[in-house]
Amino acid sequence: MKKSRKTNNILIGITGCIAAYKSCYLIRLLKKNQYNVKVILTENAKKFIGKATVEILSGEKAYDTLWEDRTDTSHISLTDWADIFIIAPATANIIGKCANGIADDLLSTVFLSCNKKTIFVPAMNERMWDNPIVKMNIKKLSNLGYIIMQPDEGFLACNAFGKGRMPNPDNIYDLIKRVDFPSEKLSGKRIIITGGAVSEKIDPVRVISNLSSGKMAKAMAKACYYAKADAITFIHGELSIAPPEFSNNIKVNNADEMLEKIEENIDNHDILIMSAAVSDYKPKKYSDKKIKKADKLEIELVKNIDILKKLKDKNILKIGFALETNDHKKNAEKKLLEKDLNYIIINSQSAIGSDDTVLSILSKSGDSLEDQKGSKLEIANKVIKWIKF
Ligand SMILES: Cc1cc2nc3c(=O)[nH]c(=O)nc-3n(C[C@H](O)[C@H](O)[C@H](O)COP(=O)(O)O)c2cc1C
Repeated sequence: MKKSRKTNNILIGITGCIAAYKSCYLIRLLKKNQYNVKVILTENAKKFIGKATVEILSGEKAYDTLWEDRTDTSHISLTDWADIFIIAPATANIIGKCANGIADDLLSTVFLSCNKKTIFVPAMNERMWDNPIVKMNIKKLSNLGYIIMQPDEGFLACNAFGKGRMPNPDNIYDLIKRVDFPSEKLSGKRIIITGGAVSEKIDPVRVISNLSSGKMAKAMAKACYYAKADAITFIHGELSIAPPEFSNNIKVNNADEMLEKIEENIDNHDILIMSAAVSDYKPKKYSDKKIKKADKLEIELVKNIDILKKLKDKNILKIGFALETNDHKKNAEKKLLEKDLNYIIINSQSAIGSDDTVLSILSKSGDSLEDQKGSKLEIANKVIKWIKF
């Protein structure tokens, strides 16, 4: 019988790093999202986090030895159970053992007997990460088809600065989702997504802006990432949330800059998803000195550039967003034709700033998907599933 995707089984191997504590949060995230989780701890991992912690978080016993139960060959049964195997954090030691077929404890033996998708999340001091032997082992594992998540650059536990830090568990979770996601629809595609509030300066300290949070754009980026897009370029204005970490992020200040960055990138991309809220108007004249407070101030506004219209000739699949407070469908259809879009997504006013949305999509060919309601991520996944790329 086919298993429901929501109850997939994730086997996590934790090794002896300071970053082991981050895996506790990863277990929680996976459990919160209905995954089943079992954990293997190496002897050295147990010096950093206790069995009790992972048992309470995972709701399963923690595994740490080959020799506990003579009636169960746990190194085989655990890999039978797992849909995805992830070693996070992965020490230089486990990477070396796995790359060279050494099976001298439960975790390394499970690795050798595992034929499921396997992810390594290395974490170590930057000099260890730079060591040519570690590099060679990583390359070998990568060439053999194992998925290697690149460590982050930043402050390390040993007070050094460099590459080697274990990525944030939210990003590891997103990678697991991508590996687990039942669609490869966007494999081979490169996507530009714009998001957030794009403002226009009035004077050095004031702007005309809007209430866009960038949450829908981030949800679209995640949906594209899960559906295995090759690359995502996220061009954004102000966001009320952190931008995604799996994308190439470019911050812009105004509509002109956004157009410039899209034009710089568009020729090596296949799809443009324009969900940024660009100010329709901008001040006719920018004051390079702060405008003095007075009883009354009148600012003359002029129409801002229309980014999608400027990109009309670009041969790329274009998806626009429309937010209308009245005559939604009629206005969206007009926008779809005027801007020569392939699809237009009609967003509701109530979605601004919220984690949820209600939206409909119209296609150039007249198809529509109406009144989709749910979290922005759920709806973004549905949108990507529905659109013909
Ligand atoms: C305080 C401390 C922190 C450590 N942090 C790391 C680390 O971040 N990455 C790493 O590869 N090794 C780290 N090590 C070294 C490993 O714990 C050591 O290589 C050990 O043999 C790994 O065993 P395991 O891979 O079986 O868990 C650390 C050791 C200590 C004492």
